[in-house]
Formats: sequence, C-alpha cells, structure tokens
Amino acid sequence: MKTVLTNDVEEAAAFIKRGEVVAFPTETVYGLGAKVFDEQAIAKIFEAKQRPADNPLIAHISEIEQLDELAIDVSTAAKELIGVFFPGPLTVVVKKSAEVPLLATAGLETIGVRMPRLEIAREFLRACGTPVAAPSANVSGRPSTTTWEAVYEDLDGRIACILQGDATEIGLESTVVECSRDVPELLRKGSVSIEQLRGVVPDIRLGELDLDGPALSPGLRHKHYSPRARVVIGREPSDRDAAFIGIHDPKKDVAYLRISEDVESYARDLFEFFRQCDRRGIATIYCEPVAETGIGAALMDRLRRAAE
Ligand code: TXA
Ligand code: MG
Repeated sequence: MKTVLTNDVEEAAAFIKRGEVVAFPTETVYGLGAKVFDEQAIAKIFEAKQRPADNPLIAHISEIEQLDELAIDVSTAAKELIGVFFPGPLTVVVKKSAEVPLLATAGLETIGVRMPRLEIAREFLRACGTPVAAPSANVSGRPSTTTWEAVYEDLDGRIACILQGDATEIGLESTVVECSRDVPELLRKGSVSIEQLRGVVPDIRLGELDLDGPALSPGLRHKHYSPRARVVIGREPSDRDAAFIGIHDPKKDVAYLRISEDVESYARDLFEFFRQCDRRGIATIYCEPVAETGIGAALMDRLRRAAE
C-alpha cells in the first residue's frame, strides 16, 4: 500500500470516510485512526500496528454531542471530568452503546472517550464526521510516536495516509480514568495529574497499575514504550557508549546526550530520543529519575515500563 503524506485535513478525512486507516497528530502523541462504527476499518488498525486483540481502543470526538453515539449511563464523575478537562489530554472510560463494535473495545462493555484539544486534530475529526477509534500510531510495543516522521518510520506502506502535523506538545499519552463503576479509578497516568483529577472528583482511586494484576486497562499488561536499547533509570552511566536523557548533566561522559530544559520538555523529548538512540544502534539509555508530581508521575511511569 502506498502511504499518502498530506497536511490537508479534508484529504486525510476522505480516507477515514472510505474505511481506511489514517495517522493524525494530537497534543499527546500521534494516533492511528479509523471509523469507530466500522468493524472492517477497526480490524485494519489492529493489523497495521500488530496490536494484540485484547487491547481496547480510545474513541476520539470533536463535539461533545458525539458522546451520545458512543456511551450510555454516563456517570456523574465522568460528566464532571469531561466538563473540566475536555478538550484535552484525558480519556474517560464509560459504558459503551450497542453501536460500538466489541472489536474496538476488545470485548469490553466500556469504551474510552477523548476529545483532543490540538486544533488540527479537531479539524480533522470534524471533517471525518464520525468518532474515530485511535490507539497510538506506533508498531505495538515500540515507543508512541511524537512526530509524523516517526509514524512514517513505523507504518509506511501499512496505512493509507499520514496527516502531517508538528511534533506533539505533551509527548506522553493521555491520562485514562475508569468512570463506569461506583468509584472512579486512575488507569494510566498522563499530563492531567492525579492532583488535578482529585480537585474535581475527590474520591478517585489510584487504579490497579500492577502489570500482572487483574488490570482494568488491558493495555497496561502489554509491554510498552520500549526502545530496542536497554533502559536504565539513573544518572551514572557505566559505559561511554551509552546515551543519557534528563534535566541535569549525567555523572559520567556518554556517547549521546539530551539535556531537556525542564520536566515538561523531558516528557516531550523522551519517546523521540528513544527512537534516535535506536537509529544510532545505542545499546543502553540512562534516564534521570524525576519527582513524581504533575507530569513527573507520568514520566516516571513510562520510564519504569521501558526499563522492565
Ligand atoms: O493520548 C492518547 O491516549 C493517545 C492518542 C492517540 O489519543 N492514544 C493512546 O491509545 O495512547 P493507546 O491505545 O495506545 O492506549 C490506550 C490505553 C490502553 O492502555 C488501553 O488498554 C486503555 O487505554 N483503554 C482503552 N479503552 C479502555 C477501556 N474500555 N477500559 C479500560 N482501558 C481502556
Ligand atoms: Mg499505545
């Protein structure tokens, strides 16, 4: 398949309307989209990224009214979170409507819903005229993509189109909150922090983030965010051929280095740095640990998963 590269949202949306798969930018990471209500289109997403069938997809919307097509019995907690954080880097998990195919939700009776705030993403979704199911636009198990070039590297020839936007501004995937049960639960950390969530829904629980437990968010059981290189959390590289990323200098010299300005830029730079290290054939990447507040908590979560 020839992958069309374009910065025209209408051209990209036309592929979605025809049941094809399109990668598009959001403020978190690039997504790999297809029509939510079309099983054949959804199947193409799983095939293109070689995603395990037990890992559910997030539905992306441009208008709040689209929630009615996707969900039933939306809880008060979900409504409150949506009221404050939509559009933005938050996914709420709610009970799915009968129209949503089980293929999209990996057999679950719930669906994750998110309204991106990035303008080009909203224009694209508006032009699609339908909610768009989209996981991150990477080959399964690889780091999520934060530039269209990284999408091209993973998925050229496997998808119909890439909507070319800028490098993403946040660089880590959305915060995911399960809201279909009595007590809302944080399933994945992101740039909307637990502190911010509790400011709106005080009784929110830290979810079952344990990889081997009965995870509510099946995706968290799968290996994630990993470069081919070995990832070590620390500031003392033991060999000169290693790479380092952080906000302070490493304590020893390394072959390849990225010092980001602050924790936000570190989060933004991380996945692309992983990919750059892989392109250079680097064997070990040292990553500075950061304080687990704000986006630091999400960053540490991704570092731990990559280091496993
Ligand atoms: O920022 C993001 O969320 C990006 C952009 C493209 O929106 N998308 C993304 O999708 O990261 P993905 O598929 O790579 O990660 C979705 C996560 C997985 O951990 C998945 O298991 C969880 O959300 N998830 C999706 N639907 C769920 C559901 N119904 N119940 C529990 N967890 C769900
Ligand atoms: Mg992903």
